[in-house]
Amino acid sequence: MRIDLVTVLPDLVRSPLEHSILQRAQDKGLVEVHVHNLRDWGLGRYRQIDDAPYGGGGGMVLRPEPLFACIEALQDQLGQPYDEVIYLTPDGETLTQPLANALSLNENLLLIAGHYKGIDQRVRDTLVTREVSIGDYVLSGGELPALVLIDALARLIPGVIGDANSALSDSFQDGLLDFPSYTRPAEFRDMEVPAVLRSGDHGAILEWREVHRLDKTRTRRPDLLPPSDREESIE
Ligand code: ADE
Repeated sequence: MRIDLVTVLPDLVRSPLEHSILQRAQDKGLVEVHVHNLRDWGLGRYRQIDDAPYGGGGGMVLRPEPLFACIEALQDQLGQPYDEVIYLTPDGETLTQPLANALSLNENLLLIAGHYKGIDQRVRDTLVTREVSIGDYVLSGGELPALVLIDALARLIPGVIGDANSALSDSFQDGLLDFPSYTRPAEFRDMEVPAVLRSGDHGAILEWREVHRLDKTRTRRPDLLPPSDREESIE
């Protein structure tokens, strides 16, 4: 998968892309992330990229010319249309695991991280194919949401995560939260790891995990369950 990320703060996004799973995904050639500075397409001597909103009010809006020039140049370089041109914005479609799963099947994505008071509506109307929010809160720019989206997608690409089962067994992957995990020591400050997890009985372990996934989902996120599954607890 190739991801092009357009931002006014390229330095802000570089470090997270150079660590852990995102770095490994790129080292293995499974994900390519290219960061582009919108200011390179800025207007005039001062490389202007934003302006005051028509109609007044606070904040600045990213002008259409730099965004059109940038997106069209990247599109030309790619030599084919992007599968999706995604604008990160709090008024977009909320990112969920099913949306991440669907987007992870794409080959080429262009992400636009807005800033200030957002981007000119004409860019959204003509070039953007999808608008994604990472939740009902407002951040100061789309850079962190873009990184969240990239991380959520990269870990779903086959080969990125060592354990093939790991991404599939995550919380939300089948609509349930994850089960509690323990490691050594078996006893720590009078707190014991449940005996069944040390029993070696695979059937019993699977059952314990399912029961705890369901119980945790019932108490923390009953909204994820059909009404008939919301009652009853293991306690
Ligand atoms: N930009 C600012 N806040 C955002 C959010 N919650 N999701 C996506 N992009 C954003």
